[in-house]
Amino acid sequence: MARLVIVSNRVPVPRPRAAPQAGGLAVALAEAVAGREMLWFGWSGETAPTPAAPSVITLGAATYATAHLTEAERRGYYGGFANATLWPLLHYRMGLAEFRREDHETWRAVNARFAALLAPMLGPDDLVWVHDFHLFPFAAALRALGQRQRIGFFLHVPFPPPALFEALPQGGRILADLGAYDLLGAQTRSDAENLRAALAGVGIPMPVGAFPVGLDAEGFAREAARAVAGAEVRRLAASLGGRALILGVDRLDYAKGLPQRFRGYAALLRRFPEHRRRVTFLQVAPVSRNEVAQYRALRRELDELAGRINGEHGEIDWIPIRWMTRALPRATLAGFHRLARIGLVTPLRDGMNLVAKEFVAAQDEADPGVLVLSRFAGAADELKGAVLVNPHDPDEIAEGLDAALRMGPDERRERAASDRAALAANSAADWARRFLARLAAPGAPLPHAA
Ligand code: ADP
Ligand code: F6P
Repeated sequence: MARLVIVSNRVPVPRPRAAPQAGGLAVALAEAVAGREMLWFGWSGETAPTPAAPSVITLGAATYATAHLTEAERRGYYGGFANATLWPLLHYRMGLAEFRREDHETWRAVNARFAALLAPMLGPDDLVWVHDFHLFPFAAALRALGQRQRIGFFLHVPFPPPALFEALPQGGRILADLGAYDLLGAQTRSDAENLRAALAGVGIPMPVGAFPVGLDAEGFAREAARAVAGAEVRRLAASLGGRALILGVDRLDYAKGLPQRFRGYAALLRRFPEHRRRVTFLQVAPVSRNEVAQYRALRRELDELAGRINGEHGEIDWIPIRWMTRALPRATLAGFHRLARIGLVTPLRDGMNLVAKEFVAAQDEADPGVLVLSRFAGAADELKGAVLVNPHDPDEIAEGLDAALRMGPDERRERAASDRAALAANSAADWARRFLARLAAPGAPLPHAA
């Protein structure tokens, strides 16, 4: 079997006592390729005064090579073009996008510098798999250095309709870069179709496959069942005093629809007063990308909103919203999901949203909770048992919560069983196998090819 080389901005180098990784790419990929012979290359997550060679560690079959960015590179590549330009644009939020030519130049230069660091480590038969929007031009940069391996690209986030992408001044050049890959994959049919149409619009007739990211559902279910006996979950359960737990777990990101979610919960308390004092909403949202102004503004907005809702609706012995901005260990989160009566996952736009799948996987089959899910998360294509809502509309969120809180055990079991079956049909390892099999075998049919 050819050696696998993964390239991604975040690299989940296993480190004892490290903070948990919040971010779908690291979680899905680490599960997908566990145990396989591979080299994983990317950013170390840290900065250094000057560019330097990557540091390399080998653990069993896996070698991790990570390089620091300089402070200026981090600002232009990560905080700038990736997260202040591409991220909002790819999530249909053109009004939030900042366009600075120098950020684009830095982003491109980092791609070229990283490609030059990786090239000497590559063998001619390696299968190279590049991930996400940070690295759109990576294959083009490797090709410019004479590398001829098969190189695939997977986009973890949405791709908007071409008319929106066209607003990006460097959009045409980026699409041309994508032509250097042998295979392109996206999360859903509509993302694949949008990307294919954008490419066709600039004369690059490339097929794009839909390969929805999966989850090691059995592993997560075991972790959840184990965690409910742990101290953290028992503490949370005791603190609820018999109230139904509504749980939100997200990176603190404007794509996740958190202000609308908080307003939706407030609308539930206002419009359906029978639920007052009978529910507690816990939102866990670790701070993310704090160097980007919009993310700092979002945190302030949510601090204020949570305070206002608690002030308006709280009582001396009941706090309606519990709000924390820390990451929690994965096992603890799994136990929280299992304890929750409702998983509230309402991104305004999301490539997949693994949290939705984790909630489903964590449920007790005999007495499952209900997933209230945004119709604009990629996961909504697969999780047909969820209560789907329009995440822009607080009233619809409130109605979805009310329906979920009233739902009887038979309907909950039926919906949960349908969602569990969807997870079983697509594990993280299945997802990687499908993509890599197609990358290694050009000409084979693409799943739901757009
Ligand atoms: P994104 O990739 O945009 O962050 P996903 O929902 O696809 O969104 O993936 C998020 C991943 O990060 C999930 O595996 C989730 O469990 C993890 N995560 C999210 N919030 C936290 C948190 N508070 N603590 C630890 N892990 C988290
Ligand atoms: O899943 C989408 C994604 O952008 C990943 O590429 C990324 O690792 C994750 O979200 C978390 O974001 P960040 O790496 O910026 O913390």
